[in-house]
Amino acid sequence: MDATPRIPRHIAIVMDGNGRWAQRRHRPRSFGHRQGQKAVRAAVEFCRRRSIPSLTLFAFSSENWKRPDEEVGALMQLFLRALDREVDELHAHGVRIAFVGDLRPFAPELVSRMHAAMARTSGNSALRLNIAMNYGGRWDITQAAVAIAQAAARGELDPATLDEAGFARHLCLADQPPVDLFIRTGGETRISNFLLWQIAYAELYFTDTLWPDIDANALDAALADYAGRERRYGATSAQVRAVG
Ligand code: FPP
Repeated sequence: MDATPRIPRHIAIVMDGNGRWAQRRHRPRSFGHRQGQKAVRAAVEFCRRRSIPSLTLFAFSSENWKRPDEEVGALMQLFLRALDREVDELHAHGVRIAFVGDLRPFAPELVSRMHAAMARTSGNSALRLNIAMNYGGRWDITQAAVAIAQAAARGELDPATLDEAGFARHLCLADQPPVDLFIRTGGETRISNFLLWQIAYAELYFTDTLWPDIDANALDAALADYAGRERRYGATSAQVRAVG
C-alpha cells in the first residue's frame, strides 16, 4: 500500500467543452477544437514543469466518428496540422509521443505521421504523452482478451495461470505508471468509455471549466485537490496513516 504521493505520476484527461466554448462565442465548433489545441500545449508544459512523467489525453474516442462529417473532417485536419507543427518542439523538450487506440480507420497520411512522430521521439524521457485516438476502454479490454486468446490457442499461454497482472500486460499503457489522477473538464461527470481498467484506483476530478479555458492555474487546482485525497486501496484510514 502506497502513501499518497503528492504529485501524480500519471494524469489522464477527458478534454471536454471545446464545442460549447466556441458556441458561446457564436463560432463553429471547429474553432473550439483549435483553441483546445492551445490548452493541450499548456497541459504538456504543465506536466513537464511539475515533473509528472505521464500524461494521457482523450483526443478522439471510438464514438466520435458519429459526429457530423464536417466536424470529423475538421478534427482530422487539426490532428494532421498539429503533427506537422508540434512534433519538433515536443521533441526538443524531450517529450515521447505515443498514440493509443485502433489507428486502422484513420487516413494513411495521418497514420504515417503518427508512426513517424512515435519513432522520432521514442528515445525521449522527460514526459510520456499518450494521445488516445479512436480509443475506447471496452475496445482496449477486448483487444487484450483477443491477444490472450490467440496466445493460448498457439500454446504460448496457459489460461489457467492468467492473473490480473498478466492480463494488464496486453492493455494499452501497460508500460506506464497507473493513472493516479483522472480529470474531466466541461462539467459532465462521466468516464465516457475512456480508460476503464487503468483508472480502477485513480482519483477522479471533475471541473466545469471548458477545455479551451484550461491553464496552469486550473491544473494546479486539480493537483491541490489530488494532494488532499487519502488513497486507501481498500485499507483503513489508520493503516494508511501508519504507512504514510
Ligand atoms: C471534446 O469537446 C473534444 C474533442 C472530441 C476533441 C479533442 C481535441 C482537441 C482538444 C484538439 C487538439 C488535440 C490534439 C491532441 C492536438 P466537445 O467537442 O465534446 O465539446 P462539447 O461537449 O462542448 O460539445
